[in-house]
Amino acid sequence: MKNVIITGATGFVGRTLTSYIQRCFPDAKVLPLGSQAVDLVNRTATFDWFDRLHWAWECDYIFHLAALYKAGDWPVHHPATQFHVNMSINVNILEAWARFFPKAKFTSVLSYCMYPSHPEPHPEAELYGTEPEDYLFAYAMTKKALLIGQRAYRQEYGLQCTSVILPTVYGPHDSFAENSHVMGALIGKFVRAARTGQEAVEVWGDGRQEREFLFVEDAADGIVAAALHAQVDVLNLGTGQSYPIGDIAETIQRAAGFGGQIRYNTNRFVGVQKRMLDVTRVRQELNWQAPTVIGDGIAKTVAWYRATLD
Ligand SMILES: NC(=O)c1ccc[n+]([C@@H]2O[C@H](COP(=O)([O-])OP(=O)(O)OC[C@H]3O[C@@H](n4cnc5c(N)ncnc54)[C@H](OP(=O)(O)O)[C@@H]3O)[C@@H](O)[C@H]2O)c1
Repeated sequence: MKNVIITGATGFVGRTLTSYIQRCFPDAKVLPLGSQAVDLVNRTATFDWFDRLHWAWECDYIFHLAALYKAGDWPVHHPATQFHVNMSINVNILEAWARFFPKAKFTSVLSYCMYPSHPEPHPEAELYGTEPEDYLFAYAMTKKALLIGQRAYRQEYGLQCTSVILPTVYGPHDSFAENSHVMGALIGKFVRAARTGQEAVEVWGDGRQEREFLFVEDAADGIVAAALHAQVDVLNLGTGQSYPIGDIAETIQRAAGFGGQIRYNTNRFVGVQKRMLDVTRVRQELNWQAPTVIGDGIAKTVAWYRATLD
């Protein structure tokens, strides 16, 4: 890896991916992009930025992570905003890649909410001919459109690309506010409750919903492995294991040293009952397995979040 562009590099996953690449490829020139550097919704600004760059520089890898997504029921109330922003970002970045850096391999980061809402592990073959669940429909379809766009650019112009589909990612630099993704939200609640001596922590749902989780450093490792070695258009990049939210809450409770109670609130919106990836393809294609076991990932994240509060 020599010259690398990372969109969404100021975000949770992008920030870790940027430092991972800088660490593993110390000679690489990495350009981390956030929306302050260039608003990818703005076609003129995007093309101007790429145009200026391409005269002096040859890019060999583009990582595309930029997207508008928020946890909880935000997507239910903002499907048009999400559709407009994410479609614009994706259409602009694909065209900029083809026009200015057609030799670069393009790797995009997709989400497991693209799959339908049944509880069995999802193989990549399920991406087509199925529909994502209703409350994430617009967001998930923009991810599917990105995948279709990459395929189209590969077919028409012979460009190189791949995509990875991630489950819920957690780790340092995540958002720990109450309305964040479940892992960040729970770590935030338990750590703060332990510090303030709260009596109880509220967990949304009945604790039986199951989710798959990937530690953010492992996500960075797998995204880079896919960019370097994947010959297929898309790979599920996960652990292939799901955990009940109740078990996760108890693990976090112990790691945070919280002595109070867990109270389940079944009136809150929690999404689908169970979601997990079939990781057969990534094992075969890349011989890749997530290095971090969930207890260690949670302990590291709790320690990191605690340190930020100190
Ligand atoms: N986190 C997860 O659990 C998870 C799971 C599956 C898939 N993913 C995918 O992984 C990617 C990164 O997720 P994340 O959790 O790191 O998201 P995040 O923290 O919300 O970061 C989003 C990134 O996109 C950038 N961005 C948004 N609008 C932009 C615009 N108009 N122009 C340029 N950049 C823009 C943001 O830049 P600024 O901050 O500078 O505005 C930020 O760097 C996303 O594509 C997401 O769908 C994430």
